[in-house]
Amino acid sequence: MAELAGKVALITGAGSGIGRGIARVLAREGADLVLTDLDEGNVRGAAAELSATAMKHDVTSWESCRQVVADTLEAKGRIDVLVNNAGVSKSVPFHELDEAEWDRVNDVNLKGVFLTTRAVVPHMMERRSGRIISISSMVGKEAIPYFVHYCASKFGVIGLTQGLAKELAEYDITVNAVCPGVVRTPLWEPLLDQLSENKGISREEAWNEFIEGIPLRRPQEPEDIGEVVAFLASDRARNMTGQGVNVTGGMQMH
Ligand SMILES: NC(=O)c1ccc[n+]([C@@H]2O[C@H](COP(=O)([O-])OP(=O)(O)OC[C@H]3O[C@@H](n4cnc5c(N)ncnc54)[C@H](O)[C@@H]3O)[C@@H](O)[C@H]2O)c1
Repeated sequence: MAELAGKVALITGAGSGIGRGIARVLAREGADLVLTDLDEGNVRGAAAELSATAMKHDVTSWESCRQVVADTLEAKGRIDVLVNNAGVSKSVPFHELDEAEWDRVNDVNLKGVFLTTRAVVPHMMERRSGRIISISSMVGKEAIPYFVHYCASKFGVIGLTQGLAKELAEYDITVNAVCPGVVRTPLWEPLLDQLSENKGISREEAWNEFIEGIPLRRPQEPEDIGEVVAFLASDRARNMTGQGVNVTGGMQMH
């Protein structure tokens, strides 16, 4: 089954972790992939593994988003699926959170979704078709302490998803979010350092604390997120829009 054969999919933050897992599943389903990332070396590696096209992309820059979309349209002629996956995180107690750190996280996680989507949408409107899928988080539905700026950015992604889903429905463009729970990617390594420092426990204790809170008692894999993205990108999900689909092993249920 190659459910996405003939579809062009652009995935941001695809050089690492979840983005790379999403790329693997979409490649398996036959999608023609454009993988973008701020880290050019990583995204070139991912693209080589999957016979995909790699592009350097800073989602916080309008000029970079505009250029990536223009280059993709020139190379492929169309964009059927946009996956907004690029993201950053950091654990900071609120009383130590400064403006620069607030802006850094919100610029990538929320403004980056806005800018990339804004660059792609006119093309999808013209074609009266498209799938926009953004990676939020379970903490985009129920916040946790020490990550207030990150949670706010991920709640923002859900709000953007819902509003845009209503606005673009008349063009038959669906807009959804996927909310992962706990996926051990490079994102987690500095987080575990910070959590262990903030809480006065070891890194593995901090990790196990998260795993113990998962009803299925295991973390999710990057490909678990990719499977849901592939479904949302497929014709089978044609009547789903404005949703935030949890992939959390039961940790988040609404
Ligand atoms: N890992 C988890 O447990 C988890 C849980 C919920 C949500 N998420 C979300 O999933 C997404 C992927 O996270 P991950 O865990 O794979 O992290 P990761 O650090 O492995 O990958 C993130 C990628 O985004 C890229 N990136 C960062 N800033 C960028 C920018 N300005 N422009 C373009 N690319 C940029 C990085 O270079 C990196 O390749 C993020 O949005 C994250 O918030 C992760």
